Amino acid sequence: MKRILVWDLPTRLFHWLLAGGFIAAFVIANVAGHRDALFPVHMLVGLSLAFMVVLRLVWGFVGTRYARFRSFLFGPKAVLGYLRGVASGTGERHIGHNPGSSMAIFAFLALFLGLAVTGILMGGGSEAAEDVHELLAYALLVTAIAHVLGIALHTWRHRENIAKTMVDGHKEGAPDAAITGAKPVIALVFIALTGLFAWRVVAGYDATTKQLTLPLIGQTLQLGKVEGEGEHGGGHHDDHDDDDD
Ligand code: HEM
Ligand code: HEM
Repeated sequence: MKRILVWDLPTRLFHWLLAGGFIAAFVIANVAGHRDALFPVHMLVGLSLAFMVVLRLVWGFVGTRYARFRSFLFGPKAVLGYLRGVASGTGERHIGHNPGSSMAIFAFLALFLGLAVTGILMGGGSEAAEDVHELLAYALLVTAIAHVLGIALHTWRHRENIAKTMVDGHKEGAPDAAITGAKPVIALVFIALTGLFAWRVVAGYDATTKQLTLPLIGQTLQLGKVEGEGEHGGGHHDDHDDDDD
């Protein structure tokens, strides 16, 4: 057993940006109502996270060994067997994602995309999307808590600090289980594309009309009403001021 590289740099950057972004979007949504000056940041962060997820989907097909979906696509039998093992204290250690964390990962990816779709629909005026959006946000919160508890359990059971693994990319393992490189150039491309996307979102936002024209899609969203303009401004949302319901 040696210290070997298992998580490439794009995967690690994706992970911590996703975790940090989720917390930021969630906190902003709960402390700032949709009329607050900070609220557009909620959409900026949420949309950028969904864009990162799309890039991660591509990386799931062309990325390094343990970043590929093929390496952590487990059937229900494998998942149940693994969870039974965890319950009885005999859960085996995996070099890549284990069947338990793989479930959380696919849930995360779907939930982030669902939040972006319902967020966009809300900005387009759909009231129904609001309930779904909130439900997805809380489902994501529950998944994240389960994820972190799972990490804590693994850390304790296997005496292995896997949170650190997601930072430096290394684990103990057989030399032939290592990935070939950290892919720093792809990491730079990932950051550049995400930055470019976020910048296009900011450039597409008009603070006076509170309209956001989405990059790539081109759709225009109305983010709340323009102050002092009565019923003008796209008709999204209501008149009440209670933002924290
Ligand atoms: C709160 C928001 C979080 C989200 C949305 C999140 C999401 C994810 C995702 C999507 C992956 C898969 C990475 C990939 O292959 O692309 C992952 C894996 C991982 N995350 Fe998180 N994470 C969060 C918080 C955390 C925290 C706080 C820690 C550390 C304490 C952590 C530690 C890990 C580890 C160690 C893995 C690898 C798990 C394995 O061995 O299968 N995560 N997480
Ligand atoms: C990480 C992704 C996201 C998370 C965790 C998240 C979470 C939330 C939460 C918890 C709420 C509060 C619901 C309530 O209390 O009424 C909310 C509201 C909202 N979100 Fe998101 N959201 C995300 C992404 C997005 C995106 C991408 C958009 C738009 C493009 C968006 C637009 C909105 C809007 C318009 C509201 C309604 C605010 C209001 O009327 O009070 N969100 N979001």
